Amino acid sequence: MKGRFHPKNDVSLNQSGNESIRDVIERMGMKRRRFIMTAVGTSVLTVLGDVTVNGLLQTVEAAPIPPSSGFQGIGFESIKPNLLNPATGKLEKDLVSVPDGYKAEVLIAWGDPIMPGAPTWSPDATQDASAQEKQYGMHSDGMHFFPLSGGREVSNRTARRVGNQGPTVNSGIICVNHEYTQETILHGSEGLTPVTIAKVRKSQAAHGVSIFEVSKTRFGNSWTFERNSPYGRRLTANTEMRVSGPAAGNALLKSKKFNITSTGSVQIGVNDGFTAYGTVNNCANGYTPWGTYLTCEENWNGYFGHLDETLVSTPGIPDAEILAAQARYGVTKNGFGYRWHEADPRFNNRTNPLEPHLFGWVVEVDPYNPQSKPVKRTALGRFKHESVQYVVDDQNRLAFYMGCDERNEYIYKFVCSRPYNPRARGANSNLLDDGILYVAKFNDDGTGQWIALVHGQNGLTAQNGFRNQGEVLIKTREAADRVGATMMDRPEWTAARPRINGFQEIEVYCTLTNNSRRGTNPASVNNPDGTTAGGSARPPVDAANPRPDNRYGHIIRWRETGRTVTASSFSWDIFLEAGDSKRTEANLVGNINGDDLSSPDGLWFDDFGRLWIQTDHSGDGKGDVSNIGSNTMSCADPNTKEVRLFLTSPTDCEVTGVTSTPDGKTMFINIQHPGDSGDATNPNLTSNWPHSQGYGPDGRPRSATVVITRNDGGIIGGL
Ligand code: FEO
Ligand code: CA
Ligand code: CA
Ligand code: CA
Repeated sequence: MKGRFHPKNDVSLNQSGNESIRDVIERMGMKRRRFIMTAVGTSVLTVLGDVTVNGLLQTVEAAPIPPSSGFQGIGFESIKPNLLNPATGKLEKDLVSVPDGYKAEVLIAWGDPIMPGAPTWSPDATQDASAQEKQYGMHSDGMHFFPLSGGREVSNRTARRVGNQGPTVNSGIICVNHEYTQETILHGSEGLTPVTIAKVRKSQAAHGVSIFEVSKTRFGNSWTFERNSPYGRRLTANTEMRVSGPAAGNALLKSKKFNITSTGSVQIGVNDGFTAYGTVNNCANGYTPWGTYLTCEENWNGYFGHLDETLVSTPGIPDAEILAAQARYGVTKNGFGYRWHEADPRFNNRTNPLEPHLFGWVVEVDPYNPQSKPVKRTALGRFKHESVQYVVDDQNRLAFYMGCDERNEYIYKFVCSRPYNPRARGANSNLLDDGILYVAKFNDDGTGQWIALVHGQNGLTAQNGFRNQGEVLIKTREAADRVGATMMDRPEWTAARPRINGFQEIEVYCTLTNNSRRGTNPASVNNPDGTTAGGSARPPVDAANPRPDNRYGHIIRWRETGRTVTASSFSWDIFLEAGDSKRTEANLVGNINGDDLSSPDGLWFDDFGRLWIQTDHSGDGKGDVSNIGSNTMSCADPNTKEVRLFLTSPTDCEVTGVTSTPDGKTMFINIQHPGDSGDATNPNLTSNWPHSQGYGPDGRPRSATVVITRNDGGIIGGL
């Protein structure tokens, strides 16, 4: 089970094990398709029966997957899942495992020093906020590698040319998100109680983003981080940021302004709507073609709370409007248990009720300029942002694809008004402030529409609660409710297929991780007037979300009409339905051509057309994942949909964050919240990773970034 601080919309464990009649026909139908693909006669299937067919398939599938349109092949063989050992009641391995011929090494873990003056991490967790503010944060999630050459910035385009045709990139800057904190492990043996400002400040400092420099060592394929790099930087829950775009300066963003110090937050006035403090619950990410990092604020609602119900009114804004907006985004009395509001009045959603409006955005950061101020880009909408994936089309027009991760929320795209300029980096600095946000409607016939969220259109009027475009963006969820967008099974990461090897389509994928509130009785939907409490609807199944009680999740993909990002329509299909092929129930068996997986979350195309799928399920080899084991990273062929298991993880964690050097020869992934069932007096109750993998001192599990290389120096996943 996940720890108590894991965002509540992530829990997918269901141990009921409902048995029903095995849908043999569906299973055999799936295997037959695999069989035909490998050019073996279907008559053999009938003769051999299920078990032998499985054996044969494994033999056949062990061969490399050859290149094809838009795809350069997969060269590794699947590894075995990390299952529960019945004798110990624990997973077989408290380790990251990768295929033969590959190496996985821990690069950096929670608490490691990344800025000048930062202390070495102390395993008793007694270090305070001032140390944590210079150390790698907790619970790492999305990340991106920005190449350096001789200590200087190089553009992604240049690096790619260098990497694929010449010398390997040997250094870079990694930006990594820190999604949340496990307070029991963060604060040493005392734990969170009693709540103090010192503990809240440490928790706030462990959130946000770490920006740090890495380089290849002179020995073999190993990498190391720099302790004293001039690029080393931390963004936390208290870092000052600029607010830009159509909502900047809006009355709904003028929350109380505080003097934030180590001893408390003291009100000193009112914010101007152009300034925000901090970024939290930075889940997945994106980046821009001009070399900036995009960090996404997901379950930010969980940091707010209140002890006293009395709402402090805001002049000119009805109390009912503020409370309805908080309910639509899941801002509640107790939050998720971080208890910041008990010591920091900035996070009290009754006495500082506009502060939640300053969270839920995509934040742009320039990793190459440590003095630059992060910018909250309001044009991309306010919701529970998972990731943001850009696509540039043949006319240099630019769009960003995004999911809002909560049950029955929506998929969005933002199209910039002006084209991307690949020749002048500075010309792109405000592209994210001007454009149109759209939300997706998936029709049952495999077509879909992008519906514009523009003030004055599609019912987004003052009469319906949207006074201006700024309010449409601050109330993005309510706007999407109003225009009839399709409620999805928890949209997580988006990924865009590279247009290589003759593949011309603009094809985007999105993980829909699971949904326990799909297809139950009585049915309910997100109300068009925006009054639904976040995550509370129970919509019926539809073509894009076809399974009731979707425990294992699926991956959907769409192609833009006319191969342009400005398209207002698309066609779509379901890439795979995750599941357990050993189960018997039709809605649990899944539809995967290859290795099983559960709750797909992280999703990324490498430059060679391989689709990498990371998972975030609960259970660690128990209940619904008894045949799947720990969380995983798999690699898929987007043409044949064949899935191979590449990586298995240690105890009580999720696998997330994936990026690589431009040459594709070094991959970085994150292991988040290992051992998060541990408590303050026994933090390594279930896991001692990464110490169990030879990294750092004993005694406390730590989220960490892992480097994956090939022993022969080849491209990760390649032939
Ligand atoms: Fe932070 Fe939706 O995962
Ligand atoms: Ca998660
Ligand atoms: Ca997740
Ligand atoms: Ca996630």
